[in-house]
Amino acid sequence: MPAEFESLGWNQPAPADRRRFPPEQVFAAGLRHHHIANTAYPIRHQVTMRAYRLPREEHEAAVAAAWRDTRHLSLYVHVPFCQVRCRYCEYAVVEQEENVLEAAYFEALLREFEFYRQRLQTDSKTLVGFDIGGGTPTFASAEHIRRVVEAARSSFQFEPGAAISIETTPIIAVRQPDKIAALYDMGVRRISMGVQTTHFKLAQSLGREYEGLGMLQRAVYNIRQAGFGRFNIDLMYGFAEQSPDTWRRTVEQTIALGPEYITLYRMRYKGTRIQEQAAHVTLDAVNELKTIAQETLWAAGYAGTPGKNTFSRRPGDEGTSEYLTARVIRGAPYLGLGLAAQTMSPYTLGYNLGAASKSLKSYLRSVEAGRLPIQDLYHLPLDVAMAKMIAVSFYFGQIHREHFRRKFGVSLEEHFAPEVDFVLQNGLMEYAGPYLRLTLQGDKHFNGVVALFYAGAVKEVLLNLGREVVLPGVEVQRRAAA
Ligand SMILES: C[S@@+](CC[C@H](N)C(=O)[O-])C[C@H]1O[C@@H](n2cnc3c(N)ncnc32)[C@H](O)[C@@H]1O
Ligand code: SF4
Repeated sequence: MPAEFESLGWNQPAPADRRRFPPEQVFAAGLRHHHIANTAYPIRHQVTMRAYRLPREEHEAAVAAAWRDTRHLSLYVHVPFCQVRCRYCEYAVVEQEENVLEAAYFEALLREFEFYRQRLQTDSKTLVGFDIGGGTPTFASAEHIRRVVEAARSSFQFEPGAAISIETTPIIAVRQPDKIAALYDMGVRRISMGVQTTHFKLAQSLGREYEGLGMLQRAVYNIRQAGFGRFNIDLMYGFAEQSPDTWRRTVEQTIALGPEYITLYRMRYKGTRIQEQAAHVTLDAVNELKTIAQETLWAAGYAGTPGKNTFSRRPGDEGTSEYLTARVIRGAPYLGLGLAAQTMSPYTLGYNLGAASKSLKSYLRSVEAGRLPIQDLYHLPLDVAMAKMIAVSFYFGQIHREHFRRKFGVSLEEHFAPEVDFVLQNGLMEYAGPYLRLTLQGDKHFNGVVALFYAGAVKEVLLNLGREVVLPGVEVQRRAAA
């Protein structure tokens, strides 16, 4: 093992990440590029993270060193299959009518478990959360899912209260009630169903299989019959053809279905089949839709602070899975298995094969050859790790100051002095208990606020974005004027 990996500390920051920019400029750039300045961080990682990319021959040693001292972590397993790819979907998805690739994929997943069991001595590590996501994991057979659950149980310890969470589509919940019941029987305790919209025409134009409200009611019935008491519904807003009225109706009809939690996803266009629509969706339009949803949910007894995506009607329950809650509040490390899965150890950020290509071939080949199926592994400097933790914190619209200080050994106010001053002075964030939290005003300027905490290289990309397409002469003049 190379000597520098005996103990993996923070990497040296690249010159681009040492740069500082005036908060007002970064804030304005985040708002200008509101379709990409969000919690999906980092942006343009092929450019902004290149300095930290480890060569493949160092992956094994770096992974072992990165996890050596970690006792508690979360686990994510990605199951990429879907019958058809929805036109708005941004995830690593493999479309198939029949599950022809399923058996090979699950074999590979179980081998990947085995790789980590050997390399990380996982039996001495404790899971604080475990999500099975996708794609549509419930597209796979109950038997395959059971084998994954068993592999997790036999590889790791489980913290008491660390529930297993899974995702489904309504169509599967309607047509395969036995599978939903089997999930509960194997110990899955939280289930999330993507509804996105109850508007028939919009659902169809997005390529969703949707047969109307009756179908959703039957899906909910099957989920409840199976025993699930922690049930989430995902909704999406920010489509070009979504009117405030149809959106309000979607939120109301979803509330009537009675889930414990409702998660609002603002449409992220990058890399999707409808990305050209982004140009027709203004920030004002998005904010109007967000306000409608917040007010409707609050009035119906669903709690969620400004900026939080998941609303919960269970007191004291954030509504998200334990896996996500630990990431968001504590910046807890997580191991991701499967196609394109993301992993964050205390000092590294990694993406499995398929993250770029979204194809199974290279992932399967790597596992078959006995290699960790990693596409990119980055050894992070402090600023990038901080930026990543804060970006994820904004899923809840707030940063836990004490967890930040414990993780990085410096206070938020010390490290981000000009940025914290800026958000406080402009009424964008405020102190609330242990948190620095978005105000309602800040929530409306979410994309500007989140950008303030990005690392230097990503801020620079944002500040220059759009300029690349300006005529060179014009660009030079603008720079000279600046
Ligand atoms: C990985 S999907 C799994 C849900 C399940 N496959 C379904 O579609 O019902 C999780 C959620 O991500 C959200 N989502 C998908 N594409 C998105 C995008 N481009 N931008 C924002 N959210 C998105 C949807 O709300 C979806 O329910
Ligand atoms: S939204 Fe869900 S069902 Fe649609 S393609 Fe994405 S993961 Fe599959």
